[in-house]
Parts: sequence; structure tokens; C-alpha cells
Amino acid sequence: MIRVAVFASGAGSNAINLLKTANGLEGLQIPLLIVDQQTSPLLERVPEEFPNTEVALITPPPMKDARSRREVHETEVLATLKAHSIDWCFLAGYMRLVGPTLLRAFRQENGISKIVNIHPSLLPKYPGLNAYEQAFQAGEKISGITIHFVDEGMDTGPVIQQKSFPREKRDELEKFIERGKQIEWTLYSEVLTRLSREGTLRPEKIKS
Ligand code: GRF
Repeated sequence: MIRVAVFASGAGSNAINLLKTANGLEGLQIPLLIVDQQTSPLLERVPEEFPNTEVALITPPPMKDARSRREVHETEVLATLKAHSIDWCFLAGYMRLVGPTLLRAFRQENGISKIVNIHPSLLPKYPGLNAYEQAFQAGEKISGITIHFVDEGMDTGPVIQQKSFPREKRDELEKFIERGKQIEWTLYSEVLTRLSREGTLRPEKIKS
């Protein structure tokens, strides 16, 4: 049985989508959801709708030095992941860079982590915050969604899968995001399902 933890900070539509998908999968379960924001609606919703998933609210400590703060925070997160025997982590709108503490703990033999992220652009285009807005304002006719392995950079890890979608002429930003969100949910479900079937995930292309 593959045990996946989902990480989220905000509204959590991707987290809910992953939890729903996992309910229909054999050989994979999501026993743990890590949330780092007290305001996330997931804190109420998930215990009601997914009683088999424990929700852990782990906020970063009030330390000034960013590196120490991340290290202390990740040490606590890692202890919770270990207590639940987690094999893979899926970030779903988790608004935090992952540091060496977690990356080291989830490193595979090939050097790639077992931490996966979803990003709403065709990386390497538009990494970081507000990717939908960036692509829209740049007038991209085709945008897309990327699922990738997490490394120490900002949305820089090896790509697992990408899927594009068109920006229609009449699209307002809202409509554009709505179309992208549908692709996010489909694509993240596909990748979770692949993990349950194949037991692992591989980069789309091996860079030589
Ligand atoms: C999504 O657009 C995801 O791709 C990005 O953050 C957003 C989170 O949305 N990483 P939600 O909280 O899953 O609805």
C-alpha cells in the first residue's frame, strides 16, 4: 500500500480532488493532510467528508531567520509524516518552498525526490506566484498545467506530465482560470492513479 500525504495552504480544490480520487484507488491511500494555514477551509471540510484522513495543522514557528524557521517547521512536518509512514508527498497549493530537511528525507536513489507539485503554467514558463495571471497578461494563446518533482528551486524540478489548454479570444481571466482548474484536477488525478498502478513516478524526459 502506497501512503501519500497531501500538503495544502488555501482553498484546497486540488487537495479535495486528490482525496476523492484516492477513495477509488486500490493500493494507494491518503492517510494524512498537512495544512500550514489556520484559515484554510480544509480544516473543517476534510474531517467531515474524509474521516480516514487525519488533518494536521502545522504552522511555521514565529522565528525571524527564514532558514531556521523553515528547518524547525519541516522537522515538525517530517515527524508527522514519519508517524504516518508516508511514502510520497503531493503538494496541492502549498505556498511554501520545500527545504533540505524534507527533500533529504524523500530523496530516491536517482536523486529525484518523492515530493510532487502542481503548477498552473507550462513550466519553465511562469514559475512562482500568480502563474495564471502572468500567462494571461502575456497574451499566451496556449497555456497549460505542469506536474513536476519538487527540488530546492521555485517550480524547477523535473517534469512528470504537462497538459496544455487554449485561451479563447473571448476569455476573461476568470474563465481562463476556470478552464485551467479543470485540467489541474484531471491531470493530478491521472498522476495519482499512475502512482497507484506503477508504484512510482518517472520524469517525462531524462535530461542527458
Ligand atoms: C492551484 O492553481 C495550483 O496549481 C497552485 O495553487 C493553486 C491552488 O488551488 N499550485 P487550490 O487551493 O487547490 O484550489
